[in-house]
Amino acid sequence: MTLSLVRCDLIRRQNLINGKWTDASTGGRYAVSNPATGAVLAEVPDSGPADARAAADAAYRALPAWRENLPRERAALLKRWHALILANADDLAKLISLEQGKPLAEGRGEVAYGASYVDWFAGEATRVYGDLIPQQQPGKRMSAIKEPIGVVAAITPWNFPLAMIVRKIAPALAVGCTVVAKPAEDTPLTALALAALAVDAGVPPGVLNVITASRSLGIDAVAQWLADDRVRKITFTGSTAVGMHLARESADTLKKLSLELGGNAPFIVFDDADLDAAVAGLMAAKFRNGGQTCVCPNRVYVQAGIYDRFAAELAERAGALKVGPATDPVAQIGPMINARAIEKITRHVEDALHHGAQVLTGGKPLRQLGAHYFAPTVLVHASEQMLLNREETFGPVIALFRFETEEHVVRQANDTPFGLAAYFYTQDMRRAERVARRLEAGVVGVNEGAVSSEAAPFGGVKASGYGREGSKYGLDDFLSIKYVCQGGLD
Ligand code: SIN
Repeated sequence: MTLSLVRCDLIRRQNLINGKWTDASTGGRYAVSNPATGAVLAEVPDSGPADARAAADAAYRALPAWRENLPRERAALLKRWHALILANADDLAKLISLEQGKPLAEGRGEVAYGASYVDWFAGEATRVYGDLIPQQQPGKRMSAIKEPIGVVAAITPWNFPLAMIVRKIAPALAVGCTVVAKPAEDTPLTALALAALAVDAGVPPGVLNVITASRSLGIDAVAQWLADDRVRKITFTGSTAVGMHLARESADTLKKLSLELGGNAPFIVFDDADLDAAVAGLMAAKFRNGGQTCVCPNRVYVQAGIYDRFAAELAERAGALKVGPATDPVAQIGPMINARAIEKITRHVEDALHHGAQVLTGGKPLRQLGAHYFAPTVLVHASEQMLLNREETFGPVIALFRFETEEHVVRQANDTPFGLAAYFYTQDMRRAERVARRLEAGVVGVNEGAVSSEAAPFGGVKASGYGREGSKYGLDDFLSIKYVCQGGLD
């Protein structure tokens, strides 16, 4: 698969600032490569603080007019963008797969998933209600109205190059905010193609600005936004360490933040679970995007009574997964994003083996396929001292912990600084209600491994961050509430 699209003009190699495609002010560029082969796909601007400032200038200038548009006009723009995303789904899926590595079918799934957020927020744009507060004193009317917070900076990860950026841009534009965005260094091409489609949809100059940057210059570009008073909000998906940095560094300008950070999701299978459904749910949740998803189960607890049967069935299914590049139509797992990812996964598996784990299937990089492939892996006899118990592996590795009691496993599941997703399988309805309540997570799957939806609030607790994306709550992070007290009315 080469970088050729039906619409070649979706391959953009410049920043979008104030409605114009521009190079980085220094003229610098960096290479974006295909993780399947290492081949360079394109070079894009290596933007620094001057470009970030220019983007913020444009977004700030565009704000007064954009926020004055009627909600239904903003909704109409989002609907046009949504239609264009769907009309160009094949090209976008190809770009996603080329720069991120996921199989083409998953790339298509991501386009549909991401587009659903645009559609959702087009609908929500016209439903931003305030309140008329019941009268407290004669002659006074008190109301609460919701207003766009202002310029929003969206900083997005590489694992879902389309879905993560649209689910930040769409609600921001829906409520009347303007946006400056920086996609991850590894996957800028999808974001630039989306920006091109937004221009086609009629987004006014300055309302959406996208700059690309390498890891090192990107830090300086974002620092510029963090220090800029006019940028009122940061919305970020990525690691907890970076989320904490953004929170600290934006303190001087007191920005509103939504942070969707790392997870360490537990997946619990009780003895009374439907075993086939639990295996299928785990396969779907864990191997989505090759395990490179924040809500992927990272610690799998199986109750002693079904541990061996569950492990055998899981190993058989995981061992049968087809690994290969996005060009291979039967591939179910693509390459990992880069060499650092392979190094971390290998370190986690070696550490687990050192602490007594056994491999039922996989366990190794697949060097014969290329530098970035890792075999779908099932390990048994996982224990608390293993690295994979504490850190997100972010790869196709399942480690099975054995447990005896509900009380103990809920304590173990919660024994982590993180709290993004948690899953469990049981057929006992009372247990279902009780465990869902006790798990410390922002998202809980009960007898279900596929939890993500544009209609549901997505986000974490504890070190997994704060703020919610999607659903009717997804607008709140982009709004501020103004209280208006009108007197002299009698
Ligand atoms: C993520 O990995 O951060 C997002 C996954 C999802 O939206 O399901």
